[in-house]
Amino acid sequence: MTKTIHILNGPNLNLLGKREPEIYGDITLDNVAADCSRLATDLGLETQLMQSNHEGQIVDWIHQARDKAAGIIINPAAYTHTSVAILDALNTFEGPVLEVHISNVHKRESFRHHSYVSLRADGVIAGFGVEGYQLALRRMASLLAD
Ligand code: DQA
Repeated sequence: MTKTIHILNGPNLNLLGKREPEIYGDITLDNVAADCSRLATDLGLETQLMQSNHEGQIVDWIHQARDKAAGIIINPAAYTHTSVAILDALNTFEGPVLEVHISNVHKRESFRHHSYVSLRADGVIAGFGVEGYQLALRRMASLLAD
């Protein structure tokens, strides 16, 4: 059976392509979803991309991934820097977790330098623009092939 990767996105990423394009670029989240889906097919995987502005919704999706997903790629957006709840939820998930940030958070304000999610993530990609999602997907395929 084809393994499914859940790609979870946090607050304000619904505005990707319109929001601060000088930082996040002009590609929309729908485009990211389509590109990931195409690459996933080449890698023998399936992807399901979701976005929410609500912390509890993201926690619920992580719980659902426990039964439905082989791996999680997550850009928790601002919740990266604040959410113990998302970290705790990720700690209940047994498969690989990869953290993606479109911007290079380490080059930005100091409050973006700390990530709760990194305490669980098996890998972190930051500053590669939206290409980071595809890089994470390639890494996910290698991790799941082992
Ligand atoms: C982000 C970086 C976060 O600091 C920020 O709050 C975001 C997006 C990124 O993808 O670069 O919303 O996760």
